[in-house]
Amino acid sequence: MSTTTRVWVNGHLVDPNGPSVSALDHSVTVGDGVFETAKIVAGTPFALTRHHRRLERSAAGLGLPPVDLGVVDAGVAAVLDGTAIDFGRLRYSVTGGVGPLGSDRDDAALTYIVVAAPQTPPPPSGKLTVVPWTRNERSAVVGLKTTSYAENVVALARAKQAGAVEAVFGNTRGELCECTGSNVFVVVDGVVLTPPAESGLLLGITRELTIEWGRAAGLDIREETLPLDVLRTADEVFITSSTKDVLPVHAVDDRELPADGPVTTELQRVFRTNAERDSDP
Ligand SMILES: Cc1ncc(COP(=O)(O)O)c(C=O)c1O
Repeated sequence: MSTTTRVWVNGHLVDPNGPSVSALDHSVTVGDGVFETAKIVAGTPFALTRHHRRLERSAAGLGLPPVDLGVVDAGVAAVLDGTAIDFGRLRYSVTGGVGPLGSDRDDAALTYIVVAAPQTPPPPSGKLTVVPWTRNERSAVVGLKTTSYAENVVALARAKQAGAVEAVFGNTRGELCECTGSNVFVVVDGVVLTPPAESGLLLGITRELTIEWGRAAGLDIREETLPLDVLRTADEVFITSSTKDVLPVHAVDDRELPADGPVTTELQRVFRTNAERDSDP
């Protein structure tokens, strides 16, 4: 059984370190592609149906032709077959295919890429740092999970320098938005608050499940426009993402917070219980 990174491109398992995508692929040249990241637990991807739906929405938003999910599923089966990944990441991308060197497109066939890789599980809690750059809630690609992630690369590098697990962005209006690869929640007077889609965030699958399952468990969870500096006063802060689930935040820059706040702890429990019950909710 293999526990190393496995890569599949357009129908074939390929050498992870060898060439497998054209240098002219429009994702390589201009970031013209969409992707998903799902958690792998004991060899099984989590919430794959919801990730597939979001991939379709991202592709449509980018103006790509419809994605053939049968092709994606063949890739997923190929990279997971015979592997023994306890905890890891399934990353799949669909790109504009071989295209012109500029931003214009021709009718190229889409490129399908699927990767499975083991990963170190997240720490029990993490620090956030607020970065000076903004999410653009009026961007042409707002809410889409595109392969143009350079802004996130720069922001996450800044966060790591500051000893943080994530960087938080405000939007152009100074409202709380999201992190480079996670959504953010705050708890104020027992109420759980998280920014709405209009803030310019990516609608995370983990965010969605946290809201659904949390409400079903009786918690008061609201999507509300929030000022960025709610992070200076909130009683608890946590982030959500496919590989982090519900992750308590123990500091926002120089402000320390309880990593074991009662509401965050309850939501972690609710999330874990529901996720263990159904791997494709
Ligand atoms: C920009 C951004 N926001 C939020 C998230 C969290 O989404 P999910 O819970 O689907 O992983 C991600 C996921 O990687 C992301 O890239």
